[in-house]
Order: sequence, then structure tokens, then C-alpha cells
Amino acid sequence: MQILIAVVFFIIMVFLMSLVWTSSKGAPWVPTSREVINTMLSMAEVKPGETVYDLGCGDGRVVIAAARRFGARAVGIEVDISRYIWSVCAVTVLGLWKQVKIIRGDMFSVDLGNADVIFTFLLQETNERLKDKLRRELRPGTRIISNTFTFSGFPLVAADDELHLYLYRMEPRIGG
Ligand SMILES: C[S@@+](CC[C@H](N)C(=O)[O-])C[C@H]1O[C@@H](n2cnc3c(N)ncnc32)[C@H](O)[C@@H]1O
Repeated sequence: MQILIAVVFFIIMVFLMSLVWTSSKGAPWVPTSREVINTMLSMAEVKPGETVYDLGCGDGRVVIAAARRFGARAVGIEVDISRYIWSVCAVTVLGLWKQVKIIRGDMFSVDLGNADVIFTFLLQETNERLKDKLRRELRPGTRIISNTFTFSGFPLVAADDELHLYLYRMEPRIGG
């Protein structure tokens, strides 16, 4: 019995530490509901064959939906090892490994230049930190769909004020 209590305590501690650590990297794990994911991918008008990135992919539910429901190629980036392993397992079990890639790492270090759509559910300050990278790397026309948090100064194309969803489209860079 004591061993069981110790194991449960250990698992809870690891989970809490992971939440604190991932918050410091960009955001804690709070999954988007499947209905909202479908709304967001529809708002972004994801088309078959397009490439969707989820920055901080959690358990992989966004990239899986992008591939299965929208026929997209999808790339999930996840800094937390347990959620990375979970995502890889889910993608593998669902037979989506040709369509979906999961990268274990920091989204700030991954080139996003081939994205057609960027999905985010992070924090306001993380969105602020991301803006320069997105401006530098994204091609004109790339859509950014964000859950809850905005990208101030980016051209807003659509918003769902009830669900707090925001769609942006990158403009051509000034000077080419
Ligand atoms: C709010 S959750 C969103 C998960 C998923 N995108 C969804 O909507 O269900 C944020 C995720 O980002 C991950 N994360 C935080 N900072 C990160 C970073 N710098 N690079 C990659 N992933 C990060 C967290 O571990 C967490 O899984």
C-alpha cells in the first residue's frame, strides 16, 4: 500500500513539475477541445496537402485532426518528453506516420518556413515572443490560428469572439 501511495505521489509530482517547466518554456499543457480544434482548422480553411504546424502539440490531437479530418500534412512540436512520446504513439497507432511528424524540441528552434497554417494555444507573452520569428520565417499568405491569445499588430482576418479564436494572415514582407 505504501509503495502504491509513493508511486502515485511521484507521478503527481512529475506532472506538476512538468507543468511548471513547460510554462517557463512557453505554456503549460491545457488541451484544446476537439470541437474547438475543428472550428479552428475550419476557420483557417485548411486544405488537403497543406502543411499545418502545431507549436506545442501536447498529446497530438491537433495534428491528428488536421491529418484525419482535413487531409493535411501536419507537424507537431513538443518540448515535454512524456507528451512527445504520447503523440508519437497516437500517430503510430492511428497509422498516420506518413502524414504527421512529431518533433521533440523547442518551437523557437524549429524552422517554420514551409508552414501553410500555424496553430497556437500558448500564452499572451509567448505569442509576443514568437512574433519576430513568425515575421522572419513565414511566407506571405501563411495563416496563423490562435486559441485564446492574440498576436497584436498582426493582420487579423477573422475572430470568433465567443470562443476567443483569432485568425491572422501574414502579409508580404516590406522590401521583398
Ligand atoms: C496549452 S498546451 C496546447 C496543446 C495543444 N496545442 C492543444 O491545443 O491541445 C501548450 C503545449 O505547448 C508545449 N510547449 C510549451 N512551450 C514549448 C516550447 N517552447 N516548445 C515546444 N512546446 C512547448 C507544452 O508542453 C504544452 O504541451
